[in-house]
Amino acid sequence: MSTRITLTLIGLTLLTSCASIENRAPPVDDLFLSEVKVSASEVDKLREGHRIYMNFCTDCHAPRQVDKITANNWKEHIPKMFKKAELYPEEIELVTYYIKTAASINQKLIAKRP
Ligand code: HEC
Repeated sequence: MSTRITLTLIGLTLLTSCASIENRAPPVDDLFLSEVKVSASEVDKLREGHRIYMNFCTDCHAPRQVDKITANNWKEHIPKMFKKAELYPEEIELVTYYIKTAASINQKLIAKRP
């Protein structure tokens, strides 16, 4: 294979593996809220959950794309992390609410984002 083709392939692989932060962990902005109809107090909870996700779930690795987190990850990995970080039960509830809500609409958000 020529060097040029090899380099192009490496470039493409890097491009596709580097999903933007927005695509991995969408902020609770107007676009987000156009996909989930929730009350103002729920919006605050989602925003708080996003903040916890960005602060706490990025210590050791880039934030995982919310809709790629599998049921098995929830069982095996995430409870360990909650424990390690000594998150309060309310924080666990908020970040879980954010991740699950964001995961359910993330593909639509990615498709709509310019
Ligand atoms: C203390 C460091 C640390 C923190 C904090 C952490 N992770 Fe992880 N995470 C890891 C390591 C190491 C792995 C790979 C091996 C494993 O599962 O233990 C991993 C793997 C994962 C995986 C499994 C799939 C994959 O892509 O490898 C998911 C999903 C994940 N992390 C999500 C989260 C979420 C959500 C949080 C916040 C609640 C979080 N992580 C916080 C260290 C961390």
